[in-house]
Amino acid sequence: MPKTKSGHRIGIFMRCVAVAAMVMVFFLVFSFQHTFKLMEEHHERHVARDLNDHPSIMSHKVGTEPLEHEEMFANTLKNCLPAEKGKECKTYIPESTERIGIIAPPGLMATYLFKLMNSVVAHGKKSSGSKVTNTTFEIIQTTHIPPYGYGKTHGYTRLVRVVPEPLLVGATDTLVATINNINDYGAKHITLGDIKASLRQQIRYHCRLNHVAAHTALWTIGLEEVAGMRTEDLIDRVQEFLDLERDEAVADKIMEGEANNGGAGENPLSKLEEMYSEGALLLSVAQSTNPGQDILEILDQVLVDEMRMSKNLTNWPCESFWKVGDAENPLELSPIIKRISQDLSPDCGAAFTDCFVQRDKCEYKGDGKCS
Ligand SMILES: *[C@@H]1O[C@H](CO)[C@@H](O)[C@H](O)[C@H]1NC(C)=O
Ligand SMILES: *[C@@H]1O[C@H](CO)[C@@H](O)[C@H](O)[C@H]1NC(C)=O
Repeated sequence: MPKTKSGHRIGIFMRCVAVAAMVMVFFLVFSFQHTFKLMEEHHERHVARDLNDHPSIMSHKVGTEPLEHEEMFANTLKNCLPAEKGKECKTYIPESTERIGIIAPPGLMATYLFKLMNSVVAHGKKSSGSKVTNTTFEIIQTTHIPPYGYGKTHGYTRLVRVVPEPLLVGATDTLVATINNINDYGAKHITLGDIKASLRQQIRYHCRLNHVAAHTALWTIGLEEVAGMRTEDLIDRVQEFLDLERDEAVADKIMEGEANNGGAGENPLSKLEEMYSEGALLLSVAQSTNPGQDILEILDQVLVDEMRMSKNLTNWPCESFWKVGDAENPLELSPIIKRISQDLSPDCGAAFTDCFVQRDKCEYKGDGKCS
């Protein structure tokens, strides 16, 4: 009797082992697939490959969580939504074409939104209440900040800015995206000084855009908001911002088109994960090469200093993108930071763009001193 009982018990045990083994196999296959997928994605952005074998990476994991005083920054971010504020938000239309700028520093942040807005516009028509009915749209993805001034100087009808959440992810993502544009430069060369400078640039970028939001139609959307929102809802918000017919059929058409394409539309959540993990790698390396210092505290101090210097991002003009080095010599910048400064500065030579403020002219020339 006891024999059969224990045999029964063994049977249950064996079945549990079998189930556990199956679950393990399932997860292994799944995680391998995930790894392969990541490897493919990193084909161009090989930060992980560059840094994963860094000697002390494992003992210095630093995540990309919000900085202690990040709310101070987030609270200053302004919108100018015509649906809420009416004529206060100007919508200058050059030559019957509405120029819609999707603006963010170099990186993965704005690409998804750019593609989506193009699809919405392709299927959309102006709302019946709209005063302009025979305009066309041009969606422009750019990293260059609009020069100071109204529509006639910056050339945009409406602007959408994508804000990194958390802010540090913006700083690291821009560094990662820029590495690829510089010869003989790898993730290993990025220093804590570069991360600090990149963070200053991100904050000053939004200082500039807050001034634009004082008069030009501008929609501020957080990165996590973009990634977390249902596509239908995001499309509805886009239609509202562009003053298009709020037509649900458009969302159906866009999503159907993507499904027919084998789901070719990019998944914003997977992009976000990529940005987080690459950012965490950069920060961990910076932490490991600066033992005895708390780099998150140092970076938070950068944020607090920027908020103080800019009077919570209200000073005019905002500090230069070319003056983001440490206090001893703010004009001394590494090649990667110079490259980012160039990408963020107003592009005074571009079509529909007219720089008349001295700060803009200097930035365009790469002159941080501007005396
Ligand atoms: C439509 O656009 C043209 C310029 O392309 C303009 O001359 C015309 O006045 C516009 N019509 C209306 C009704 O807005
Ligand atoms: C900036 O905002 C914070 C609150 O977030 C406030 O305590 C501080 O006094 C403000 N600074 C300036 C210069 O307005």
